[in-house]
Formats: sequence, structure tokens, C-alpha cells
Amino acid sequence: MEFWRQPDELRLACERARAAGRRVGLVPTMGALHAGHRALIAEARRRADFVVVTVFVNPTQFGAGEDLARYPRTLERDRAACEEAGASGVFAPGVEAMYPPGEETRVRVGATAAPLCGVHRPVHFEGVATVVAKLFALAGPCVAVFGRKDYQQLQVIRRLAADLFLPVEVVGAATVREPDGLAMSSRNAYLSPEQRSAARAIPLALTDACRAFARGERRPAALLEPARARLAAVATSIDYVDLADPESLAIWSDRAAVGDRALLAVAVRLGSARLIDNVVLGEDAPPIAGAGEEAGG
Ligand code: PAF
Repeated sequence: MEFWRQPDELRLACERARAAGRRVGLVPTMGALHAGHRALIAEARRRADFVVVTVFVNPTQFGAGEDLARYPRTLERDRAACEEAGASGVFAPGVEAMYPPGEETRVRVGATAAPLCGVHRPVHFEGVATVVAKLFALAGPCVAVFGRKDYQQLQVIRRLAADLFLPVEVVGAATVREPDGLAMSSRNAYLSPEQRSAARAIPLALTDACRAFARGERRPAALLEPARARLAAVATSIDYVDLADPESLAIWSDRAAVGDRALLAVAVRLGSARLIDNVVLGEDAPPIAGAGEEAGG
């Protein structure tokens, strides 16, 4: 497996791979890799034969007072995990390589980035779009795989690629969950044992909503209120529990009835950990498989 620190090294490696007839797959990450990331690499390997994992904790997507300084940095372990998962190379640039002195260009995002996390993390998606645009520019024509756990991010990146005519196929991979249904996230490491067990309320709330939707429930309040109540019982605070259009991300919570597919998106804080999760009702399987009619407590 190759390892690059410099942007030009990544560009050259991808150009060489394409010249040799290989398809480039890109898996952008911030490191602290877990089984969810390994599933993204596996998805990229199904679609491409030169798979690059990028490991970069991108400062521009963190707002003031967020967890940039303490975000887990585990590069040596991440390299080993990438090698084991069959990646062809890892790109782990320093901050100055991605944002050299004098750089000033940012990608301005639009309506897709405005609701949900956009309300609570105002600079976040501009930073994500900027760094992903840089990675797409370096990788060139490729297939890029992102997790559906960060569903709004996925939609923002789809818009980025379409709006800037970037030669990148953007693929969303299914959320990988712990046995109790909690979505895998590098930020789960911030949870105390008590918070970790309280976090099970998130997949339970989403599972209940999936079941209700499957029974034909389409009233936003009937889908949202049980989820809000369940989360309010355990969360330090709730950023949002909302229904939105799965493509545009426009909030639907005030509609008379939702459509045949609806994004149910959740962001809650448990202590210092901010956890997000979502399901597309009418499309995704419930987070807790095999739960009875009601997911229960
Ligand atoms: O999802 C992430 O890990 C990051 O937001 C991404 C896409 C790698 C950009 O920094």
C-alpha cells in the first residue's frame, strides 16, 4: 500500500492508475477508522480497482468551540486498517499542505446545507465542500464513497459534484451499526458508559418511526413526537429531530402529510458528544433489525 503526504503525490498516483487502465475509488475520511469506514472501503473496492483513503481532520469544517483539538487522531492504526481492508493507498496531508499560506478560496454551499446541521454548525458544510472539492480535484475522475449516516453531507457533496461538473460518481453507502443499533461514529469514543447506554435511544427512536411509517402513518407529528419524547428523556440537549425531503433536505415537519419517502434526521448531544443519525422512511431498513412491532424500551 502506498502512502502520500503531498497533494501532488496523490494527483500523480491517481493519474498513473488511470493511465494503467484502473478505475480510481476515493474514500474521504477524518481518520479514527472503524467498521463503518471499512465498509466504505469495501464498497469502493467493489466499484474501483485503485482505492485511495484520505485521512485528514479538516479544520475548516469545525466551528469555534467544537471538537477540532480533541478529535481522535490515530494515523498509524488507520494506515494498518486501510492496508488490511485492501486500500491501494492512503493520503494523509498536513494542514499546511491542504491550506497553504495565502489560500483563501472557499466553496459556498446553498439550500441543501442550510437546514438541520446547517442551523447548528453554520460553517460546517462550507468547510466540508471546500476540502472535498480539493480532494476531488486531486483524485480526478473517480468514484467517491461516503456514508449515509451523514446523509445531509452526502446530499451537499452530490450537489457539489453536479453543480461544478466534477467527473466524480458520488456513492452513498449504508450506515454500519453496533449490535444494539447505534450508528458507528468516531465521536462515539466521547461517550461515558452511561451515555453509551443512553445512546441506544437514538436507534430505538428511528426504529419506532420506521415501524409507524410502515403501518401507513404519514402525519409528521405522529412520526416525530414519540421520537422527540424518547430522545428528550436521555439527551443533554436536542439539536433537531426533523422530517425533510430526502433530495433537497427542505424541512417537512409542518406538512399535513409526508410523502412516500421522507428523511427522519436526528442530532442530539449526550454530554460533550454530538451524535447524528437518520433513516429515509420508506427506503432504509429500521436501525434495529428484527425488533417487534414497536421497538420498545
Ligand atoms: O465525513 C467526514 O469524515 C468528513 O466530513 C469528510 C467528508 C472526510 C470531509 O472532511
